[in-house]
Amino acid sequence: MASFPPSTPLHLFLFFSISISISILPISESQQLQGVCGLEWDPALCSTSGKILIKGGTVVNAHHKEVADVYIQDGVIASVRPNIIVSDDVTILDATGKYVMPGGIDPHTHLAMEFMGTETIDDFFSGQAAALAGGTTMHIDFVIPVNGNLSAGFDLYMNKAKNSVMDYGFHMAVTKWDETVSEDMQIMVNEKGINSFKFFMAYKGSFMINDELLLQALERCKKLGALPMVHAENGDAVAEGQRKMIELGITGPKGHPLSRPPLLEGEATARAIRLARFVNTPLYVVHVMSIDATEEIAKAKMSGQKVIGEPVVSGLVLNDSWLWNPEFATAAQYVMSPPIRKSGHDKSLQAALSSGILQLVGTDHCTFTKTQKALGIDDFRKIPNGVNGIEERMHLVWDLLVESGRISVMDYVRITSTECARIFNIYPRKGAIMEGSDADLIILNPNASFKISAASHHSRCDTNVYEGMTGMGKVEVTISGGRIVWDGELKVKPGSGKYIKMPPFGYLFEGIEKADLALLSSLHSPSRIGRSAA
Ligand code: URP
Ligand code: ZN
Ligand code: ZN
Repeated sequence: MASFPPSTPLHLFLFFSISISISILPISESQQLQGVCGLEWDPALCSTSGKILIKGGTVVNAHHKEVADVYIQDGVIASVRPNIIVSDDVTILDATGKYVMPGGIDPHTHLAMEFMGTETIDDFFSGQAAALAGGTTMHIDFVIPVNGNLSAGFDLYMNKAKNSVMDYGFHMAVTKWDETVSEDMQIMVNEKGINSFKFFMAYKGSFMINDELLLQALERCKKLGALPMVHAENGDAVAEGQRKMIELGITGPKGHPLSRPPLLEGEATARAIRLARFVNTPLYVVHVMSIDATEEIAKAKMSGQKVIGEPVVSGLVLNDSWLWNPEFATAAQYVMSPPIRKSGHDKSLQAALSSGILQLVGTDHCTFTKTQKALGIDDFRKIPNGVNGIEERMHLVWDLLVESGRISVMDYVRITSTECARIFNIYPRKGAIMEGSDADLIILNPNASFKISAASHHSRCDTNVYEGMTGMGKVEVTISGGRIVWDGELKVKPGSGKYIKMPPFGYLFEGIEKADLALLSSLHSPSRIGRSAA
């Protein structure tokens, strides 16, 4: 186990390791842990017996809250009730006046991802350390196939994740289509614990698949009980928009949002929703960034379709003004896809999340340093797409929606943790404070404040798109797998994180076969043909 004495905060070690590693990307494994594993573990900083009692806090689940004690033993929640009496070897945490909640689950991250000619600066070690410091105890990352091969991609990512410090699961991206891919999807679902596949309707020439393939993939997902996810932007139109910008001489970061306006997100969202309806399968739309896409999701839901919409924290709290900054380095930080939109889209996304039109919040944590972003200094199309958020999500969502009175504390738990666990079929092992659930919890003090800065964050990135933001509600303690891993200092153990297999046929698939049967029988039922009476 590595720990970080007060005099040597993790971010300084990580900062040190960045400064020597970014020039020679991709960084090697030994460099990834440099300045971290090299430290002696100070057992005094770590939780001792594995038995913890959290006393007197308000324990919050998505369906209920009550003042109670939570007793943790052997990595699981052993008891939740008032006035638990324990023996002397138990670590006691006083949570009076604070909220005890399930650790956050981030449904959308990219750690150690090779993308746009480089690799994200946060790997499974630094990204997860950052997550824990911000109250997230599990994330679901996207396996990128190797030359389209899913099995090779899975093996690669299992290896990337071997220094994990918290639990994680995988979605699988599908970037081409043939018989092998189709067969491998079954292996991923039945043997490897993957129950969701992401299809890119954008990134023409790299990840993008066309409608014909999307349709086949949706059918395959449905058969396997796996949830199809879409990156919804019209990739052909984006490529045309980019060409036009370059033709106009717009090569800087503002060319990014200008070339892929919200209507292209709305169009692709509508198309994916209609194809999912045609196939009769549930659909998950990742990183919903615009009013246009939100309206399509709302319409589909009103017609009874099972569509999940995932906004990300950047879309909820930022607007595109930064992309017009004349400094390339500043503007480039904010380049992600779909783009961060004009002010107004953020408010709409917040309202949709608060009211249940959108169900859960992710980050799309995908970090690149200034040096990496500079790959696109002469051409915005080459700026690696992505922003941070894995450490900031829990704080920003609390401040934005709970502190402002727009959602309840229980709804906060639902959108940051429980709904993700339900959708990906790992509830109530994850996403709940119940007897038998994994001991992944946070203690949040609503009366303490937070401040975000690249100087103090735990990501390896040298910038933070939320730089300077402050708010109320501070995660004071994070417990992961029954161990205190954050209490103002990080105490993480490389390799302690577990891969969480996610079984197929989650709740969204219930009743699908009945709708199929109803459609089939309607095809055979007698229909009236003829002229209506005058
Ligand atoms: O800009 C983004 N979103 N980068 C990560 C890749 C993706 O599309 O999710
Ligand atoms: Zn995407
Ligand atoms: Zn993403």
